[in-house]
Amino acid sequence: MTATDDSTVRDPDELRAGMVRALLDQDAITSEPVAAAFAAVPRHRFAPGAFLDLAYDLHSTVPVKKDEHGLDISAMSAAHLQGVMLEQAAIKPGMKVLEIGSGGYNAALIQELVGGDGVVTTVDIDRDVIDRARHCLDDAGYGQVKTVLADGETGVPDSAPYDRIIVTAAAWDIPPSWISGLTQTGRLVVPLTVRGTTRSIAFDRDGEGLLSHSYRLARFVPMQGDGAAKEERKVLLRDGVAVQTDDDRVRLDTEALNRALDVPRLLHWSGAAYDLPDELELYLSLNLSGVARLHASQDVVGSGLVEASALLGVPALVSGDSIAYRTRRETTDTGGFESGVVAHGPDAEALADQYVDLLRYWAQNHRRRGAAEIRYLPGPVPSSLPQGTVAKRHGIVAVTWHQRLQGPLPGPGTSHHHTLPRRHT
Ligand SMILES: C[S@@+](CC[C@H](N)C(=O)[O-])C[C@H]1O[C@@H](n2cnc3c(N)ncnc32)[C@H](O)[C@@H]1O
Repeated sequence: MTATDDSTVRDPDELRAGMVRALLDQDAITSEPVAAAFAAVPRHRFAPGAFLDLAYDLHSTVPVKKDEHGLDISAMSAAHLQGVMLEQAAIKPGMKVLEIGSGGYNAALIQELVGGDGVVTTVDIDRDVIDRARHCLDDAGYGQVKTVLADGETGVPDSAPYDRIIVTAAAWDIPPSWISGLTQTGRLVVPLTVRGTTRSIAFDRDGEGLLSHSYRLARFVPMQGDGAAKEERKVLLRDGVAVQTDDDRVRLDTEALNRALDVPRLLHWSGAAYDLPDELELYLSLNLSGVARLHASQDVVGSGLVEASALLGVPALVSGDSIAYRTRRETTDTGGFESGVVAHGPDAEALADQYVDLLRYWAQNHRRRGAAEIRYLPGPVPSSLPQGTVAKRHGIVAVTWHQRLQGPLPGPGTSHHHTLPRRHT
């Protein structure tokens, strides 16, 4: 059944109105212009052949193109994430905006936001995708959006500088053209992958570099072309257990790490609360002394070999033949969580101690929503980097942390979610 089949029973206008209400309810949309843009653009016209319910589902992507392994290389992004990113972008009427990674729908939303005096260019590396985007844009009445077939790594300099550049594929790094292609007051919104986790970060220009205004976890298809991630190493330890890293301090000894998993594990509880996973994970990823991500399948987690924290990937401290990673347990009195560490291998004790120290330090000093300030500093990468920084190809990512708010240290189980300030999203 296609969209045309079920359009006899479902009215796209009603579905769209419901989508906008739900995006507002969930705080994905927080401003009137973004709500008006979502209400105006017929999303289903950019998903021909898809079920209407899928096209208007808040959290679903709509596949556009897959690779030879069946993995998505292009998809219409989920409306929820598009709402969040457009709010991060704070687009105003009359602006000149570049979108890197096309589909048509998001470009149409941007055209609504910039209005008749604004200019929208969308670029894709894939001819099928850009032809399809062109067709959908024309069909839905957005003929003024410019479509370009190119590798977005070089940023479409013909129309630069842009007031906003919005990237819609996961980027391992920020090429110089994305910074030089912005006006002095310009903003770049980019799903940037740091130590294996992707966050949509709104960066403003700050001297030669960039400074974060907001950040939010996000999932995207990977960037292709010259900017594709080449630094990631991934090894399968056994069926359903993998370790992945782009940290060149980490030596991945597959056999030794696999053996370590069979040795009884150490389990240390930190006594510190676990309730802001995004912030904590960013902190751990930048401050562990050799960091990888441990992934485990549902079957392996079900067998009890690896904790559930690894289902979506968890920061792991790896030293040759030993590995330690975060877990959590419910604190029965209040229903909150406490963080802890599981460690395997000959160095398990030392790794667990180092990991637990970081969990405690973060909870005591930085446990606050939006506490991270992320900088991108372009230029040659120095051979030795200070703690809290990550080397990229064209520069470094450096994160500084605001202090935790004053007051008694919240222990496990005390949720401060609703009382903490939300300077960042
Ligand atoms: C998630 S899709 C874009 C969704 C789209 N913005 C929408 O309106 O929903 C990501 C797109 O990025 C494109 N892409 C990947 N690497 C690229 C690159 N280096 N330059 C331009 N486009 C790229 C892919 O071909 C894919 O179509």
